[in-house]
Amino acid sequence: MDRIRIRGGRPLHGQVRISGSKNAALPLMAAALLTEETLRLTNLPHLADIATLANVLRQHGVELRINGEAEGGSGGSVLELTAARIINARAEYELVRKMRASVLVLGPLLARQGYAEVSLPGGCAIGTRPVDLHLKALETLGARIELEEGYIKAEAPNGLKGAEVVFPKVSVGATENLLMAAALAAGETRLVNAAREPEIGDLAACLTKMGAAITGVGTDTLTIQGVARLHGAEHAVIPDRIETGTYAMAAAITDGELELVGADVGQLRAAMEKLTEAGLRVVESNRGITVSRSNGRLRGIDVSTDPYPGFPTDLQAQFMALMATADGASMVTETIFENRFMHVPELHRMGANITIDGSTALVRGRERLVGAPVMASDLRASAGLVLAGLAAEGETVVNRVYHLDRGYEHMEEKLAVCGADIERVRENR
Ligand code: EPZ
Repeated sequence: MDRIRIRGGRPLHGQVRISGSKNAALPLMAAALLTEETLRLTNLPHLADIATLANVLRQHGVELRINGEAEGGSGGSVLELTAARIINARAEYELVRKMRASVLVLGPLLARQGYAEVSLPGGCAIGTRPVDLHLKALETLGARIELEEGYIKAEAPNGLKGAEVVFPKVSVGATENLLMAAALAAGETRLVNAAREPEIGDLAACLTKMGAAITGVGTDTLTIQGVARLHGAEHAVIPDRIETGTYAMAAAITDGELELVGADVGQLRAAMEKLTEAGLRVVESNRGITVSRSNGRLRGIDVSTDPYPGFPTDLQAQFMALMATADGASMVTETIFENRFMHVPELHRMGANITIDGSTALVRGRERLVGAPVMASDLRASAGLVLAGLAAEGETVVNRVYHLDRGYEHMEEKLAVCGADIERVRENR
């Protein structure tokens, strides 16, 4: 397994190009199952999770063509997906277990084929992460669902029928699955207490280009008038707001200055307000944003994660690393996942002073962190450890960086260009 070695203490200076969003790209790829025509996605990031979903889609008979970069040079790749014929409506455990987002094929397969079998994803490092909300909502649209031998077996032989779905809890994935299913259901569907993340807006925009009729985008109630068929379209994936927030914190934790080219700060207002309160200066331009410290020091502030437009759970680990080096104390509360503090014992190894009490972590900032070997447990925890390593005195080795490769495109290269002393140590195979 590859590792990342960092010698900390160098301020970062330069430009980072923000990639297309992983969490927007995944549902967009699944949406290709809804039409026999070609969906052309541009600004797609090069990531392990994208490759995993591509393999799931191939299993269903989707033809995929990667065509290099789009004209205009956003840097992301162009992927054409054509689901002319679905040859297999079963998503196997071997692929689904690698990435929970594979469950996003359930809604589109069921809507297009009238049946689908998708392996239950199982838990992961950050929590149990059930899919009950996806299943109950699809049942409301008339699907018959059974769990057998670890698989979700869903059928709707006469097609799905529009209905009102009231989500008891906000779920990004369930909202996406239902949005795609409802696009081909008969009649009107209303999704109440829907997630409002920008990735949902991006999916809705793409589905609309494909011929879907969706209103209420950006609010917590989405109304979809089902259509008999959808057609091909071209769509550019939105910039990755979590990558943006991560590099903004990389600039701050090293007391450097980074220009984040292509960043869309409008998708990250709550996080940027908090980061500004913590001592970051964020200057917007027509190219993106430039981030540095506003007056030399970082201040401890309290943050609670929340569904959009709140502070994103996907920036919590990175924020905790930042607070570990700030003046004063900070309370970080995680409300989305029950086990998303796996980075804390690793930050302890680097000298951080953090106490956990249930879903809250009290971080008492230290003048210095000290480099140490640490273990990445999930994608965002890995990013938090890389940030801590960039600020720490001496050498940090982050083990299990395959987690990082799932969601950050060429992270060590982007950081090295800006002056970080960072390298990937490849496993001897
Ligand atoms: C999406 O996961 C993201 N993944 C996650 O990003 C992100 O952390 C999460 O949303 C929250 O913002 C993708 O977009 C691919 P949820 P998702 O359904 O859709 C519970 C990253 O690092 N729940 O909004 O799986 C669930 O357990 C990843 O990039 C149910 O109880 O998240 C959690 O506590 C990690 N039943 C909460 O709801 C369900 O049926 C929110 O989960 C579904 C969810």
